[in-house]
Amino acid sequence: MNVLIANAGTWGPERIESPDEGEAWIEAFRVNSIAPVLLATALLDNVAAARGRLIALTSRMGSIADNGSGGSIPYRSSKAALNAAWKSLAIDSARRQVVAAVLHPGWVKTRMGGTAAPLPPADSVAGMRRLIADLSPRQSGGFFDHDGTPIPW
Ligand SMILES: NC(=O)c1ccc[n+]([C@@H]2O[C@H](COP(=O)([O-])OP(=O)(O)OC[C@H]3O[C@@H](n4cnc5c(N)ncnc54)[C@H](OP(=O)(O)O)[C@@H]3O)[C@@H](O)[C@H]2O)c1
Repeated sequence: MNVLIANAGTWGPERIESPDEGEAWIEAFRVNSIAPVLLATALLDNVAAARGRLIALTSRMGSIADNGSGGSIPYRSSKAALNAAWKSLAIDSARRQVVAAVLHPGWVKTRMGGTAAPLPPADSVAGMRRLIADLSPRQSGGFFDHDGTPIPW
């Protein structure tokens, strides 16, 4: 099984009140939304030849349905855009027997997650590895937590 995992992500600016912060928001879109899709389309033929998987690391914060606290507009909007794009990739590549999904890794103790995060990286990765291996074509186009629980859009 060949798997492409688009993992790189950036938090972006917390406030968007100045032109410079607007530019930083655009940069968050470059990294979080556009680059993963360019990566996937560049390697789609290779993944399709292996009937493989296209996986992007998104965030629960990109869920519009789950947004109960507001804030973090650049991060939330750039991950929501990634989610929308990945859904189309899943539909467009289904006839080539590619399975595509966006995964939330949990709140993980990394540079981005910070020291207060409850989940060690090894546990997050172990869950996502199981999920990626088990994803069925029926689940393609889905948005899942690291333990396989579906997340609402
Ligand atoms: N940690 C969490 O709790 C959490 C929760 C939800 C979603 N996520 C998502 O999970 C993924 C991994 O995050 P993380 O927690 O490991 O974050 P992290 O500790 O901040 O690491 C981010 C990674 O992205 C790379 N990156 C950022 N901007 C880049 C750019 N312009 N070009 C190339 N690489 C770039 C970084 O490379 P360098 O090391 O070279 O800077 C680093 O490897 C991200 O997509 C993030 O949004 C994380």
